[in-house]
Amino acid sequence: MSADRLLVTTDERGHVSYLLDNRARAAGRRFEAIAELFDASTLRHLDGVGLTAGWRCWEVGAGGPSVVRALGERVGPGGRVLATDIDVSWVGAAAGPTVEVRRHDVAADAPPAEVFDLVHARLVLVHVADRDRALRRMVGALRPGGWLVVEDADPVLQPLSCPDVRGPEEELANAIRTGFRALLAERGADLAYGRKLPRLFREAGLVDVGADAYFPLALPACATLETATIEHVRETLVAAGIATAEQIDRHLDNVARDRLDLAQPPMISAWGRRPSAD
Ligand SMILES: C[S@@+](CC[C@H](N)C(=O)[O-])C[C@H]1O[C@@H](n2cnc3c(N)ncnc32)[C@H](O)[C@@H]1O
Repeated sequence: MSADRLLVTTDERGHVSYLLDNRARAAGRRFEAIAELFDASTLRHLDGVGLTAGWRCWEVGAGGPSVVRALGERVGPGGRVLATDIDVSWVGAAAGPTVEVRRHDVAADAPPAEVFDLVHARLVLVHVADRDRALRRMVGALRPGGWLVVEDADPVLQPLSCPDVRGPEEELANAIRTGFRALLAERGADLAYGRKLPRLFREAGLVDVGADAYFPLALPACATLETATIEHVRETLVAAGIATAEQIDRHLDNVARDRLDLAQPPMISAWGRRPSAD
């Protein structure tokens, strides 16, 4: 398999298109699997920085509704949640009295004209080509003392779909994952972004910075996410020469028959606070 014919398309603004765009039907299943794998860890981190009733929160690149709903429950009627995404098809379901859903590009569009107690993004900046500008805008939207929590994968730390390679089934899974990563990188993803977050937070002037990592391995939702992701990008994988249709079918069958211990890359969760008095 070779990845020498990677396909890159651009949107109407000339930006490189997001490989896992939300229009595909598989996007909903991807969001559910991501929620099952990562919401508990995400909410532990958000609770850890003090998320509570009355807070004003900005959820950047919200994707699906689960984190936004959890934020809405925690901040209660006296709080506010702004949920933004370049495609709000899935998060729209979370809109309500305390939750506003808005179509917004975190790098290209003007930041919201308000300040927040908490700004959070998960699995977003890794995909955004102008991630430095996006991060600056997120930091700029914090009130003095407000918290930024960014969670991003670091696939270079652990690139394998199946770390326990026993034969051709794991080798096929790992080859497809390698090709998928090449597609993401071709579109501007930084596959070693997660590890950089603590440094980037300090360089942005944040204090009380820390980070940790969570690494799912052989959980049922790893298989759900793998199937939805491969179905999502199947045509692109074939067109780029990364795998044949037959190889993809064989891999999906291996996943469906529960023959693989599938992993996801480590998710780095980083947190930091804008100093109370600048
Ligand atoms: C991998 S999904 C993660 C969704 C969600 N944060 C989660 O963890 O379940 C990435 C999300 O970022 C959104 N996104 C990509 N580029 C963006 C940008 N420039 N501005 C805002 N959202 C963006 C996508 O539309 C998608 O919903």
